[in-house]
Amino acid sequence: MMEDFIKWIFTTSHDPCEKQVHKAMELATKYNGIYYERKNLKNYLKNIDSYFVVNKNLTVDCKWKDGRLFFHPSVSKIRLNNYLKNGNDYLIESVKPDANDVVLDLTLGLGSDALLLGYFCREIIGIEASFPIYLVVKESINAYQFDELWLKESSKKIKIYHENYKEFIKKQDDNCYDIVYCDPMFENPQLKSNSINPLRKFANYDKIDKIDLENMIRISKKRVVVKARIYDSIWDEFQFDLKIGSKKSGVIFGVIEKK
Ligand SMILES: C[S@@+](CC[C@H](N)C(=O)[O-])C[C@H]1O[C@@H](n2cnc3c(N)ncnc32)[C@H](O)[C@@H]1O
Repeated sequence: MMEDFIKWIFTTSHDPCEKQVHKAMELATKYNGIYYERKNLKNYLKNIDSYFVVNKNLTVDCKWKDGRLFFHPSVSKIRLNNYLKNGNDYLIESVKPDANDVVLDLTLGLGSDALLLGYFCREIIGIEASFPIYLVVKESINAYQFDELWLKESSKKIKIYHENYKEFIKKQDDNCYDIVYCDPMFENPQLKSNSINPLRKFANYDKIDKIDLENMIRISKKRVVVKARIYDSIWDEFQFDLKIGSKKSGVIFGVIEKK
C-alpha cells in the first residue's frame, strides 16, 4: 500500500501535558513516523497533507487543512436503545448475533457497527485497510470516555487489524468465524451521511468480487452479511438468501446463510 511508505507526523494538541507528549512520541516510534512538538508544527504544515494529534484525553485524531477524523461511538447508543425498545435494527436482524459468536467485521471504519455488535456477542475482529482510519480507532478506542458501561465493555471485545480484507480472508481457515460482515463504501454514495463523510478522504473504495464472496462464505460458520445501497451492482451480481433494509434510506443488508 502506498500509504505504508509515508512518514506520518505525530504531535499533540496545544499546551500538552506530559502524558500527551509521551504518547505522541511513542506512536511515532511504533508506526515509524516523526514526532513534532506542537509549537513547531506550523513550520512543517506546508509540506504535509495530514497529521495525527494526541488530545488531552489521549484519544488520537487525524487532521488536515479543512477536516478532522476522530473516533466516537456515533449512533450506536441510539441504535441499541431503539433495538431494546422495538426490536428494530437491520444490522442486528441480519447478523443475528448470539452471545458466544465471534464476528469478523471486514470493514471496521469508525467501529460504530462493531460497538453495537459487541453488545450481543463474544468478540469482534475488525479489519481496516486505511492506515489513518485504523490508527485513529485503534489508538483511541481504549482511551475514549464512553458514557455507557455497555459501550466500554463492547469496545474491549473489538480486536483491530490494519489489512486489506481481500488478503486477510484468503489466509483464514474454513468455518473459523461465526459471522462475516462486510460494509464497504457504497458505489452510489450517500453524501449526506454525517457518520461516513469524515472517512471519505482516506477510505478504501474496493468492490466485493466473486473470490471475496466465496472466501467470506468459506470462512464463516453461520452466515455472511453484506451492506450496500439499493442501486449498487452487488445485488445483480450475487444471490442472497435474504435482503432487508429501508426503502427510505435505500440501505440494504444481504444475507447468505451457510448451508
Ligand atoms: C462504510 S465504512 C464502514 C463503516 C463501519 N461499518 C462503521 O460502523 O463505522 C467502510 C470502511 O471499510 C474500509 N474498507 C473498504 N474496503 C476495504 C478493504 N478491502 N479492506 C479493509 N477495509 C476496507 C474503508 O476504508 C472504510 O473505513
